[in-house]
Amino acid sequence: MKIGMLGLGTVGGGVAQILESPSGRSPLLPEIKLSRVAVRDLAKSRNVCLPQGIFTTQPEEVIDDPKIALVVEVMGGIEPARTLVLKAIERGKHIVTANKSLIAAHGSEIFALAKDKGVCIAFEAAVAGGIPIIQCLKQSLGANRLRAITGIVNGTTNYILAQMSREGVDFEPALKEAIEKGFAEANPSADIDGIDAAEKLAILTLIGWNLKIDCPQIFTQGIRSIKQRDIEYAKRLNYTIKLLATARIEEKNSLCLHVQPHLVANSHPLASVNDAFNAIFLEGEPVGSLMLYGKGAGAGATASAVVSDILNIVGNSSAFPVLPTTSFQSATCSQEAHSHFYLRLLTDNSPTAAGGITWSLGMFNVVPLSVQQNLTQEGLLEIVIVTQSVFRSTLDNAIRSIVGLPYFKEVANILPILEA
Ligand code: NAP
Ligand code: HSE
Repeated sequence: MKIGMLGLGTVGGGVAQILESPSGRSPLLPEIKLSRVAVRDLAKSRNVCLPQGIFTTQPEEVIDDPKIALVVEVMGGIEPARTLVLKAIERGKHIVTANKSLIAAHGSEIFALAKDKGVCIAFEAAVAGGIPIIQCLKQSLGANRLRAITGIVNGTTNYILAQMSREGVDFEPALKEAIEKGFAEANPSADIDGIDAAEKLAILTLIGWNLKIDCPQIFTQGIRSIKQRDIEYAKRLNYTIKLLATARIEEKNSLCLHVQPHLVANSHPLASVNDAFNAIFLEGEPVGSLMLYGKGAGAGATASAVVSDILNIVGNSSAFPVLPTTSFQSATCSQEAHSHFYLRLLTDNSPTAAGGITWSLGMFNVVPLSVQQNLTQEGLLEIVIVTQSVFRSTLDNAIRSIVGLPYFKEVANILPILEA
């Protein structure tokens, strides 16, 4: 089968390296020939040696080529990727993509056209890099009623948090390293602000529950608010800070969705997931709890998922569900997570501050389980409270009542807690 590729960057380069070195891998690989590759800059040096004649700066030349049966889209972004993918499907070509922004925002349109034209669309690499989570949800766990997905699905932010925690480095140098290692998105704010994780959560919700979620429906908070102080307090309390993407079926059969940093109990399996690794903790009935773990970003891990999609299509695996249904249910989304919370508050150095704040919280039935206070270098009182389990809306009401107190200065951070 002749295939074409849109993009030869971090992921595309990894895919080409696998295709050019089939020995010891799937016996189907030698049947796959990379015959056209679109890039922006022909003069750029590449980490893979391909014949100069296969390059073009015109992506249409890839999708118009009648000999190409499958197009790998690894250019990223919404446009022109969306238009090119739709045109390729119109021309009867199968699609493999690593582009979560495209699938999260335009999946229904793309799947509907793919179904109409009888071609496959596969996107394993769009969520959690090398972890085969899409196949797992659609096939291996198909017998289950899925109750919850809790994932570390962004390698860049996990790398930054791990570096801040282990090495004590600041946010900016840790981000620079993640960019240099090829983990970050073209615009890294997609990683840092939780948007990439929300897109992946939307795809997991689509596959796990056949529910179509628009990313703006997902409460999304990134890691910009996390300071060394929070990391230090978390350590003292036996937690590790992680950016979690969570989808959980609630009692009233609504789905609670959010992306936000959490204090994760050190005894929870997600707490030990470091660097650019991802992990997805699934809860289903009857399987119970299970966790998938692996590299979530970078050339090799992502290319592994892209090439496995290509192989599934080339091998015409009858079990591979490459035509997602278009009859999506619409979800009732709620952000009303119920959990313990960590609060870091700053006040004047007043002897009654901690007592006044805990009393005010108690008036809203927010029960402090532990209270620590320390003087900051600036002479302020830093009060760290871990609460009993409470709805976020209740906590917000309680917080509103304390910000008017005369000694109160700042809510430095509020983070939910994931217990083991
Ligand atoms: P990248 O390194 O920036 O590569 C993008 C490639 O697309 C480059 O080769 C670029 O050409 C080419 N390109 C972009 N716009 C083009 C256009 N208009 N015409 C022709 N070529 C164009 O990006 P990446 O990290 O490989 O990511 C690709 C996709 O995979 C994204 O959707 C990303 O979210 C997803 N993804 C990435 C990772 C990861 O770890 N990096 C993991 C999972 C999924 P030039 O090389 O000439 O600039
Ligand atoms: N920027 C993404 C991440 C790439 O850091 O997880 C993998 O999707």
